[in-house]
Amino acid sequence: MGKIRRVFVGLAGVALLGATAVPASASDTDRGIYEVDGTDAAQRTQLVRAGVDVLGVADGTVTLVATSEQARGLRADGIDLDRTGDFDRALADRNPDTDLRAAADEFPAGDEDYHTYTELTDTLTTAEAEHGDIASLSSVGESYEGRALHLMKISDNVAVDEDEPEVLFTCNQHAREHLTTEMCLHIVERFTDDYGSDPAVTELVNTREILVVPTMNPDGAEYDISGGQYQGWRKNRQGWDGTDLNRNWGYEWGCCGGSSGWQFSDTYRGSSPFSAPETAAVADFVESRIVGGEQQITAHLDFHSYSELVLWPYGYTYDDTAEGMTREEAERFADVGTRMAATNGYTPQQSSDLYITDGGINDWMWGEHDIFSFTFEMYPASGGGMDGFYPPDEVIDRETTRNDDAVDILLNEAGI
Ligand code: ARG
Ligand code: ZN
Repeated sequence: MGKIRRVFVGLAGVALLGATAVPASASDTDRGIYEVDGTDAAQRTQLVRAGVDVLGVADGTVTLVATSEQARGLRADGIDLDRTGDFDRALADRNPDTDLRAAADEFPAGDEDYHTYTELTDTLTTAEAEHGDIASLSSVGESYEGRALHLMKISDNVAVDEDEPEVLFTCNQHAREHLTTEMCLHIVERFTDDYGSDPAVTELVNTREILVVPTMNPDGAEYDISGGQYQGWRKNRQGWDGTDLNRNWGYEWGCCGGSSGWQFSDTYRGSSPFSAPETAAVADFVESRIVGGEQQITAHLDFHSYSELVLWPYGYTYDDTAEGMTREEAERFADVGTRMAATNGYTPQQSSDLYITDGGINDWMWGEHDIFSFTFEMYPASGGGMDGFYPPDEVIDRETTRNDDAVDILLNEAGI
C-alpha cells in the first residue's frame, strides 16, 4: 500500500511541475543499486549533489541508489558506476514473502526483536516505572503525524534540575536506520538497570543528566515497516514526499550543495530551516536548556547507520577550521573522536571527509550552541546494499554494547 501511494504522489508531483526533468525518486520502477570504487571526498560530494541516495561508504567504495537517468548523467560526467542490483529486487529479497501484515504493528517476520513505536513506548514507560528515582519520561513535542517524540532523562534526583553537565543522545533521524533506535534504548536500559551495581554507570548517572531521544522520526520508522515489509524509507512523512531531517537544521542550511531543494530527493532539505516539526521540537528543547544564559547540554551524539564511522563537524565545509571552529577545538574533536573510535573499531573523520552535507544536526549543535556533537554511523561497515539498513535482530545486543565505552568517553568529556 505504501508503495502504491508513493508512486501516485510522485506522478502528481511531476504533473504539477510540468515539463521539468524527472525528479530523483518520482518513479519507484527504475531505481538501481550501484557501487563506485576509489572515490575521494570531492567525488562523493559530486554524487550527493546529483541527488542520489548514498547508502554507505567503505574505503572509498560508495554504495548508492540512483534512477537510470541519474546513472546516465553521472556516467556522462565520467563517473564509473557499477550496477550491482535493483532497489525493489533488493528489498523483495530481504523481505519475507509471506505474512503481509495489515498495519505497522510488527517488524517483518524474523526481526521481531526490533521495537515498533508502540513497543518502544511501552519499554520506556516500564523503565520509568521501575526506576522512577533516576528515570523520567516526557517528550520534546510531536511528529508530523502526531506521535510523541519521547525524551528520557536519567540522573540521580531526576526530578530536580541539578547543576550537572547534560548530555543528549538522539537516534533514528532516518526512518530505515532501525538499529539506532535500539542503540538509544540500550543506553536507557544500561544506565537504569545497571545503576547501583556497575560503578562506572552509577558514577555517570550521579554526576550527569543523560537525555535520550530514541526516535526523532517515528512516522518514517513506522512507514518503513508498513505491511510487515521494509520500504527503504529515509525521510519523515511530511508533505508530498517527506523531508530529510538531517538536512533541515538551521545552521548554514542549504548553503553548500550538501542537500537538495527538490522535494522528491532523498536529501530534500525542506522548505525552510526547521520546517520539519521533528527537528523544530528537538531544537526548541535544546534552546530551552539555556539556563541563566548558559547552555546546559555540553555534549551530543546522533546515531545513524551504516558504515561504522565516527564523524564530527563541520559537514558543510571541507575546511578543518572555520567560523566558530578554532584549531584547538578541531583538534579536540579529532582527539576525542579518535579515542572513541579506538573502542568500537569505527573509522574516525571530520564529517565532510565523507561528503559535504548542509543543514546537518552536528553543525547546528556546535555552530549554534557550542555543544560537542558527534555522529556515529553504526554496523555494518560495508557490503550491505539495502540490507545494510536491516541487519538481523540477532546483532542488536552485540552492536549496541559495542558502543558502551565510546558513550562513556563522551559522558566523561562532557564534564571537561
Ligand atoms: N550519513 C548521514 C547523512 O547523510 C550523516 C552525514 C554526516 N555528515 C556529513 N557531512 N557527511 O545524513
Ligand atoms: Zn542516517
